[in-house]
Order: sequence, then C-alpha cells, then structure tokens
Amino acid sequence: MTTTLPIPSVAARDASVRSKTAGSLARYQRAQKALAGGVSTALRRSARPYPLYFQGGQGSRIQDVDGNHYLDYTLAWGPLILGHAPPCINDAVAAQLAKGHTYGAQHELEYEVAELLQKHIPCADLVAFANSGTEIVQVALRLARAATGRTKYLKFEGHYHGWDDSVLVSYRPTRQAIDAAHGSPIPVGMGQRPNRETVAVEWNDRAAVERAFAEQGSDIACVVCEPLLCNSGCLPADPGFLQFLRDITKQHGALLIFDEVITGFRLSLGGAQSYYGITPDLATFAKAIGGGLPLSALAGTTEFMSLIADGKVVHAGTLNGNPICLAAAKAALLELEKPGTYEALWANGEKLRTGMQQCLASAGYQVVTSAAGPVFHLSFNGKQARTYRETLDADTALYSDFALALLDEGVMVLPDGRWYLSTAHTEADIDATLAAVDRIIRA
Ligand SMILES: Cc1ncc(COP(=O)(O)O)c(C=O)c1O
Repeated sequence: MTTTLPIPSVAARDASVRSKTAGSLARYQRAQKALAGGVSTALRRSARPYPLYFQGGQGSRIQDVDGNHYLDYTLAWGPLILGHAPPCINDAVAAQLAKGHTYGAQHELEYEVAELLQKHIPCADLVAFANSGTEIVQVALRLARAATGRTKYLKFEGHYHGWDDSVLVSYRPTRQAIDAAHGSPIPVGMGQRPNRETVAVEWNDRAAVERAFAEQGSDIACVVCEPLLCNSGCLPADPGFLQFLRDITKQHGALLIFDEVITGFRLSLGGAQSYYGITPDLATFAKAIGGGLPLSALAGTTEFMSLIADGKVVHAGTLNGNPICLAAAKAALLELEKPGTYEALWANGEKLRTGMQQCLASAGYQVVTSAAGPVFHLSFNGKQARTYRETLDADTALYSDFALALLDEGVMVLPDGRWYLSTAHTEADIDATLAAVDRIIRA
C-alpha cells in the first residue's frame, strides 16, 4: 500500500541548506547575467534549492565554495568512476600536459587505449574515438544506415542517447504527451527537426518490437538501447529480452547497438555486454571511459567498423583521440583492471542500496530500488517498474525532499533518484550515508 509519509522538517532543511550556501547563490545570480540559464547543461538547473558552486573534489567527497563538504554520489553524472582527482589520472594527465595538449595527428596512446578496449569489450574488434556520448551515438547510427541502406532506427521510451535531434525523442515524456502522441516519437524541446526516422516503443515490450519489425523491418537499420535503462529508473531488461533483441535484429538484417555510455566500465570492465553475455554489433562508450575527461568511443565488429576503416563512412573531429583524454583513459582502465575492483564496487553499492531500503522501509516509507551495484535508482511510492511508463507512478516530489535533506546532512545525490558509486567510496562512507538517512527520517 502506498504511504504518504513526508520527509520530516523539509522547510527547516531548506532553510539550513540556504544558510550554509549563500556563496553559491550569489555566484548563481551573477552567472545568470552572463551564462544562459546560469548552468552549462540543462539538467543541472533542477538542483534544489539552487545549483551549488564547487571549488574542489577529492576521492568520494566534493567541497562547495562556502566550505561545505559532501559525500558525492552524483560523480559528475557518472564519469568519476575512480572518484574525484584520482592520483593515477592526475599523474597521467600532468605528464601528458608537459608533452603537449593535442597534435591533430597520430600518437601511441590511441592504439594503446584501443587495445585495452579490444581486450575487455566483447564486440570491440575495432575502435573509434570522439569527445562526447552524443557524438559517438551519431557515428553508430550513421554506420548502421551505411551498412543496411536503411534510414529508420528503433529506440525505447525513456532511454537517453544524447541531445541530437535524431535521438532526443520519447525521453521521459509526460503521460499527457504520451496520450497525445498516439505512438509517434515525442520531441523533448522546441526547435527539433521533425523526426521521421525513429520508431519508439516501450522497454521490455517484445510484442511492440515484433510489430515494428513486421511493419517496417525493411526500413529499420538498427535497434539502439541502454542495455540497463539507467536514465529512467535503472530498469534491467527482462530475462531473455536482450537475447530477443539480438535475435530479431539478426533475423531482419538490422544492427544491434548497445549505448554503454553509463554501463560501460561500470557494470564490469567489459560493460553490460560482458556482464549480460550478449554481444551487440556496435557499442558506444563515454562518461567513465575518461574518468572525468571528455572522451567517447565506438567499439564494433570488423564487419561494420571496416566501413570507417575503409573511409566509406566519415568519422571526423578536430579533438578526436587527443592525448590528454587518452592518457586519462589509459590510467583509468589500468586502475580498473586491478583485481578486486569490481567486487568492491558492487559490494559497496549493494550495501548502500539495501541498507537504505531497509532503513526507509522500517520507518514506514514505501521505497523501491532497482538495478544493483555501482549504479542504482531509488524512488518512493511507486512500483517495481519494467517500463518507463511504470516509473511515472513514483513520487518525485518526495524524492526531491529526501535529496534536499541529504544535502543538508552532507550527502549529495542526483535529483532524479540515480546513485553512482566510485572506487573511492569506502565502507565508512556507506555507513556515514546510512546514518544520515537514519537521522533524516527519525528527525
Ligand atoms: C546512455 C547515454 N547515452 C548518451 C549520452 C550522451 O552523452 P554526452 O552527455 O557525453 O553527450 C548520455 C548522457 O548522459 C547517456 O546517459
């Protein structure tokens, strides 16, 4: 049964955070006069009570300009898999800085990092680099169109694949927008080109995928998905669903693309494809691969990557494969390769997720968590969802109050319920977080 238990003393929490972060507010007000919206990417504006300003980060902690320290479970929205300022990345980047920032030409780190990706990622016969997840998804879609001579692609509602017009559709639409769209892809903001290339269906809906292929299979170049739907509730694929996608794409001559921008180097060193044992044709990586520096990569089988290798498909970018970001990636990957790394990441994530679940439930909250290990999602008053639409039942206002109370306790989390763990988080950090949750609900 759904409870309506509120987070205690939210007004006092709000006042307390504001009283501690006056320096951030002053900077935010100044920024808005010069920087559109006062932030550099849209989602950061949703922070309560307002976006904070930071002056440093070390390990699992981040420090704001007013001198407050927070245990950080945002990890810059995912990239900081080793935590803030890990010495291995700092040293590698410093060493490269002294040797030049970028050459616009070849250097050894390019193939060294590509070889590391080949070693760990099942589909990585060949690799190509770019700078952001948005860009690299576009490279993957272009390859799929080139390989099949088809123009459409199938995506799932709630999945995020960057901000390009072609993919920024049916990402967290409201119920009203879903009803009004009658199955058409739903743009997220103004100014997007009309989208005639996307077929959007619900996650885990086999029948809808089968219908789409039955009706439009000769036009569908690929299926693209987050193999674990991290952007809308961390919803895993139903048992057998990824294999079903693998089979149906093969059957219809379409490619299967895993967008591993979040799951890459987070679920395991070989990404979700290694963790779940399903090998796609192409996979995109960003976020954790650079450990906090801007880097993305496309990994794929020779059959399709040879289109780039032969120069038939254009893949370009002035700063692609720049040595600073690749030095960071090499250092990050070598660190992640150390024995026990993922066991510890998973154990800490599970301890935190189950600990919070138990603590909140024992106080009478109806709490739902999903996914596991180094990335998970927590929400209130909803149900254990399988599709994006089912996540719409969750009480986002209550979660927002919880996040504000956590901030007051010195724990920083994302506004949407997603929690990221890094190798820098210790068991003591988890215990401190669970103690903070306990204080919040028993206040
Ligand atoms: C699964 C997924 N794909 C693509 C992107 C786009 O990556 P970027 O923000 O680096 O452009 C994101 C970003 O959050 C993502 O989560």
